[in-house]
Amino acid sequence: MKLTANRIVSEVLRWFRRHRRDLPWRKTRDPYRILVSEVMLQQTQVSRVEVKYPEFLKRFPTFEALAKASKGEVIRAWSGMGYNSRALRLREVARIVVERFNGKLPTSVEILQQLPGIGQCTAHAVTCFAHRKAVPVVDTNVRRVLTRIFWRTTGSIYRQDAGKISKLAGDLLLINRAVDWNLALMDLGAIICKARAPRCRQCPVRGFCRSAFRIKTDRRPSAQREPVYQGRPRRYYRGRIIEALRNVNHDGWISTRSLGPRVKPDFELRELPWLHGVLRQLERDGLIIIHDERKPVGMHVSLA
Ligand code: ADE
Repeated sequence: MKLTANRIVSEVLRWFRRHRRDLPWRKTRDPYRILVSEVMLQQTQVSRVEVKYPEFLKRFPTFEALAKASKGEVIRAWSGMGYNSRALRLREVARIVVERFNGKLPTSVEILQQLPGIGQCTAHAVTCFAHRKAVPVVDTNVRRVLTRIFWRTTGSIYRQDAGKISKLAGDLLLINRAVDWNLALMDLGAIICKARAPRCRQCPVRGFCRSAFRIKTDRRPSAQREPVYQGRPRRYYRGRIIEALRNVNHDGWISTRSLGPRVKPDFELRELPWLHGVLRQLERDGLIIIHDERKPVGMHVSLA
């Protein structure tokens, strides 16, 4: 087992030397820049982050700049990324870093994880990529890759229990190669060991992988996917709502009956319950305020 594990690590690292993705956030060790990239990558595709990341950094180059910005400015700079609450939490982190930590992002994983919007994966990513400490970075893709290599599975989305994966990821980590190893697993997941269409024939560890050539390509929609309404992801409608609310004049309030057609041109009144569902989620995320809710008439809403 140990020998095989060593082989797997060395084959993956060898593959990585030739195939690594050249992404902008991999060229810096600045904790702020790394944190911004990791928060963006939590729920947004790499290709989109590649475009928005430099723009955001230009607008807010430091914790200080982000801490000083208004919520509206931050949401505007985040536009096109979806899940705006992440941007507000990032601003909150910036304010805490400036006020309590003298402008320096803490280096302790435990303290990082207490900051808004920073879970274990993001805390570990910052610790490894910025502070260069040997901790495993286990995101969804890495979990899938490790599950497939070390456990026999045939499903496209099945992932082993997080505890077992954490233990394995820790065991595999080479103290002096942690950065490359973590990035290599991410790249292997993105390029070869894709969720729905793995390319086992091109995989550097196909000879060791318990699931090689066994994954059934499953095209059914997954319950974990983002809800889709009439062909568009919820993120799209959330963005349109925020945009519409930003353009409301006078007191900033609008009724959901008037809001509907601004979000979706073919909106019909029978779609109000759907719209209200999306709005309630936006309120839970702290992005909007629901001022009154008069069933079945509608709601009045504004930006938070
Ligand atoms: N490089 C560094 N962190 C990353 C991440 N979370 N996803 C993809 N590439 C990365």
